[in-house]
Amino acid sequence: MKIAIGADHGGYRLKDEIVPFLLSLGHEVEDLGCDCAQSVDYPDYALPVAERVASGQAERGILICGTGIGMSIAANKVKGIRCALVHDMFTAQATRDHNDTNVLALGERVIGPGLALEIVRIWLETPFSNGERHVNRIGKVTQIEEQYAERA
Ligand code: RB5
Repeated sequence: MKIAIGADHGGYRLKDEIVPFLLSLGHEVEDLGCDCAQSVDYPDYALPVAERVASGQAERGILICGTGIGMSIAANKVKGIRCALVHDMFTAQATRDHNDTNVLALGERVIGPGLALEIVRIWLETPFSNGERHVNRIGKVTQIEEQYAERA
């Protein structure tokens, strides 16, 4: 799977653990930064990752900041993105099964790398259920996105 990944200064250390993990699982990774502790703005890293996924250049995206919150808010502004902030294994599974999320947000200051890698593995391996009620609900979310795009 082709995966785009990005982080701010609050998340780049966890990104540096996730990238080799993804490669070890056989995925192709596009690392869009950042790579040091110098303060940066999370939307500047969320946008290129979200755009890669929305355009189909990447199948999935992973975003990391201190809490994961800023990254998830920013990514969800991009049309076609369903980004979930996940800090436990149950939600990692459920958000793929129910929401068909295409971007995962994590908070480096919230969980340790062991749990983070397990969340990444589960989130990548769990297929969307394609259950009728879930397809219907995602369709309604897409309708909201389209209605607001028309008003802009
Ligand atoms: C940076 O200090 C921090 O605000 C950022 O990494 C993130 O947690 C924002 O949601």
